Amino acid sequence: MDSHTREDLTVAIILAAGQGLRLGGDKPKQYRQLGDEPLLRRVVRTFICYDKICSVLVVVPAGGMEEAQQSLGGLADEVMLVEGGATRQQSALIGLRFFQKLSPGYVHIHDAARPLLSHRLLDKISAALRPQIGIVPAIGVTDTLKRVNEAGEIVSTLNRRGLYGAQTPQSFPFSLILAAHEYAAREGRDDFTDDASVGEYYGITIKRIEGEVDNVKITTRDDLERANRQFVNPQAFFPDLRTGNGYDVHALEKGDGVTLCGVKIAHPFKLSGHSDADVALHALTDALLATIGAGDIGVHFPPCDPQWRGASSHIFVTHALNLIRQYGGRLVNIDITLIAQAPKITPHREVMVAYLAKLLGLERQRISVKATTNERLGFIGRQEGIAAIATANVLFPGEVPSTEGNQNDSRHPPLP
Ligand code: CTP
Ligand code: MG
Repeated sequence: MDSHTREDLTVAIILAAGQGLRLGGDKPKQYRQLGDEPLLRRVVRTFICYDKICSVLVVVPAGGMEEAQQSLGGLADEVMLVEGGATRQQSALIGLRFFQKLSPGYVHIHDAARPLLSHRLLDKISAALRPQIGIVPAIGVTDTLKRVNEAGEIVSTLNRRGLYGAQTPQSFPFSLILAAHEYAAREGRDDFTDDASVGEYYGITIKRIEGEVDNVKITTRDDLERANRQFVNPQAFFPDLRTGNGYDVHALEKGDGVTLCGVKIAHPFKLSGHSDADVALHALTDALLATIGAGDIGVHFPPCDPQWRGASSHIFVTHALNLIRQYGGRLVNIDITLIAQAPKITPHREVMVAYLAKLLGLERQRISVKATTNERLGFIGRQEGIAAIATANVLFPGEVPSTEGNQNDSRHPPLP
């Protein structure tokens, strides 16, 4: 390696400058959908999430910067883009020259047409790379190979022993593969279909490691359809389950009892504040409202409004439930934790659960009421107030929408 080579740096070049003619359609295959995102974005995601690569370059069709950026969405900021050439070989050379100044130790060169490569494969390649040796993942040929003439007649049968199908990424010491590409270009060769063949031509030692069966190349429509069927589970369903939480606290003052989870408990204090000050039902209302992003109890029932003074808090819960029902939501379960030094909650728990079951129309096993003291610590421990935390799970009809088109889905969302 050159003296100024940064041996610790590894970069990746993703070749996506082809037209995808064999696949056809209105746009090059790297922009076609695979599952819920464009093929290219899936490839780019795999590389930028791989922590042993410091820089990712995507080689895009000449004049096609905008289309590439669009299909990458928020990931476009995480990679560099350069326009490629007329052949794969030229595009690879353009990509390699791009990193010439940086002079990294190693480079992975990958076809965007193989969107299903795994981090496991990158791990195996990285572990095998050496300063003088290139690595190619390849799989032994299992079909019997026939040579066929123009007339469609079989001419001969090849011995498949020692024959492998080469995949990408193919990875090399950077300066060696750059020199090999420059040499091939100088010699007027432009017909190499992978980088290993350019390296062989130049005389680089290249070793095979076992490729991955799933790392298929998308060439035809069938390939794309199969990949969509096989690797992106068509049965996958993303239920729209939403969790909301709520917290409330009310002060205690001299009185004759507290109302918690709708149950009045005799006590030398009472809770002060909004309505009957049932902290548990207030926290529960907030948790329910949270599942539809509808703010909190104060938005719907302003504390300054005299009509709620002394009101039974079940009306707030019912209001939140009705809003949820408008969206077709179904309550799955709720969990309430009361934090009170006194009174003891356990003797009243069954009644509370029964009250909530009726109020919410839920089976008892979907309702949890728990209580804890505050170990005499703080305002709760000094019996100055009681707090409650509530969690609600609500299922809504349909699926969680895919994040496709979400411009902020990169690893480091841009700052506002
Ligand atoms: N490629 C490239 N520059 C080119 C030609 C191809 O970067 N001038 C890339 C493709 O985008 C693809 C990879 O090289 O990721 C392998 O090429 P191939 O499967 O042949 O893709 P296309 O050339 O796009 O498809 P086709 O040959 O069917 O037109
Ligand atoms: Mg091609």
